[in-house]
Amino acid sequence: MEVGVFGSGSMGTGIAQVAATAGHDVLVYDNNPDALTRASNKLQKILNRLVEKGRMDDAEAKAIFGRIYFVESRFDFKNCDLVIEAIIENAEIKKMVFEELEDVVSDKTILATNTSSLSIASVAAACKKPERVLGIHFFNPAPLMKLVEIIPAVQTSPEVTQKAKDIIDSWGKLTVLAKDTPGFIVNRVARPFYGEALRIYEEGLADIPTIDWAMTEIGGFRMGPFTLMDYIGNDINYTVTETVFTAFYFDPRYKPAFTQKRMAEAGRLGRKSGRGYYNYTEDAENPEPNKNKKAGEQIMWRIVIMLINEAADALYLNVANRDDIDLAMTKGVNYPKGLLKWADEKGIQFCVDTMDRLHSEYLEDRYRCSPLLRRMARDGKTFY
Ligand SMILES: NC(=O)c1ccc[n+]([C@@H]2O[C@H](COP(=O)([O-])OP(=O)(O)OC[C@H]3O[C@@H](n4cnc5c(N)ncnc54)[C@H](O)[C@@H]3O)[C@@H](O)[C@H]2O)c1
Repeated sequence: MEVGVFGSGSMGTGIAQVAATAGHDVLVYDNNPDALTRASNKLQKILNRLVEKGRMDDAEAKAIFGRIYFVESRFDFKNCDLVIEAIIENAEIKKMVFEELEDVVSDKTILATNTSSLSIASVAAACKKPERVLGIHFFNPAPLMKLVEIIPAVQTSPEVTQKAKDIIDSWGKLTVLAKDTPGFIVNRVARPFYGEALRIYEEGLADIPTIDWAMTEIGGFRMGPFTLMDYIGNDINYTVTETVFTAFYFDPRYKPAFTQKRMAEAGRLGRKSGRGYYNYTEDAENPEPNKNKKAGEQIMWRIVIMLINEAADALYLNVANRDDIDLAMTKGVNYPKGLLKWADEKGIQFCVDTMDRLHSEYLEDRYRCSPLLRRMARDGKTFY
C-alpha cells in the first residue's frame, strides 16, 4: 500500500514514520521545501536514536527511511491508497487542498484529515466524492501516542470508515470511533482538567502547585493541569479551549479562563518560553504545594467529577461508546483510570451530588449534571 502524507510539520513527520514502520511506502509532500528538508533530517535523527537505544537494528532503520519519499509535487500522490493531510489548521486552505488532491488520486483513494478542531463534514464537502473522506486524528508525538481517533463525517461511507480503522489498527495503534463533534472525544472530555483547575485557582481556593499536587499525588494523574498546560503551551491550550467553546455555540461549560488568556498574551507560554505557570529558567525556585490532604481531596474530586460528567455527557450524546471513551482518556492523555470506570468505583450518586452541590452554590450552567448520570443514579445503574 502507498500512503501519502500531505504536510511535513510535527504531525506529518510523525505519521510518516508510523506508516513507514508499518511497512508501507510513504510519500511526504509539503509546499515549503525547507519543511521537507527539516522532516527528512528529523526522521533520520529519530531513527538513528532508535538504533542507538537498541530499539531496532541499523538495517531496519535504513529500510524504514528508504520507504519514505520526500516529493515536491502533489501529483506524485496519484497511486496513493490513503492520503493523510496534516497541514496548518485552516479550514479554507484544507478545503482547497482536498479539492486539488481529488483531481490527482484515484476514485478509491481514502482521503483523511488530521484536523484537531475543524468539522470533518466541512472538509469532506470540498470533495466530489465526500464518502471517501474522514478524520484520522493522531496525537502528538504520533509514533509514541497509541491512540488514534477515527471520525467519519455524515458523508463518509461505512466501508471507508471500517477500512481506515483496519489500516490504522494494523499499524499497531488503538483506534476509537468518534462522532464528528467539536473536540471529538479527547479534546472535549479533557476540557475540565484545565478549566476547572483554572477556576479553582481564580477563586483563590488553592494555589497552582497545590492544585497540581492534588491531581498527581492524590488523583494519580501523571502531570498536574498547570504543569501540563505549560508543557502543551498556554497559547495552544487556550486556542483549543476557545475553539471548542465557540464550536459549542458558547456553552458555558467550555468557557475559557481569563487567567489562561492573559498568560498567552503575556508570552508566558510555558516550557517553550522559559516561563508559564512555573518558572523554567535555571536556578528558579517555584513555590511548594500546601499538602493538606483533606483540601487536596476536595480539589481532586471537584476536577475529576467534572471530567466524569463530561465523559458521561459524551456517552449520553453518542459521541462515542463507553469503552472508546475510557480508552481514549487512558491512552490519549494517560489518565490513571477510565472516567466511566472511575464513576462506578466512586459511586454514581456521589457524582450527581457533587455536581448538584456545585450547581446550587454557583447557579451556573457550567455545573449542570449530565442527564445520564442523574438517570443512572435514580435507577441504581452503573456503567460497567
Ligand atoms: N501539533 C499537535 O499537537 C497536533 C495534534 C493532533 C492534530 N494536529 C493537527 O495536525 C495538523 C498539522 O499540525 P502540526 O502541528 O503538524 O502543524 P505544523 O505547523 O508543524 O506543520 C504544518 C505543515 O503544513 C505545511 N503546509 C501549510 N500549508 C500547506 C499547503 N497548502 N500545502 C502543503 N503543505 C502545507 C507547512 O509548511 C508545515 O510544514 C493540524 O491540522 C493540527 O490541528 C496537531
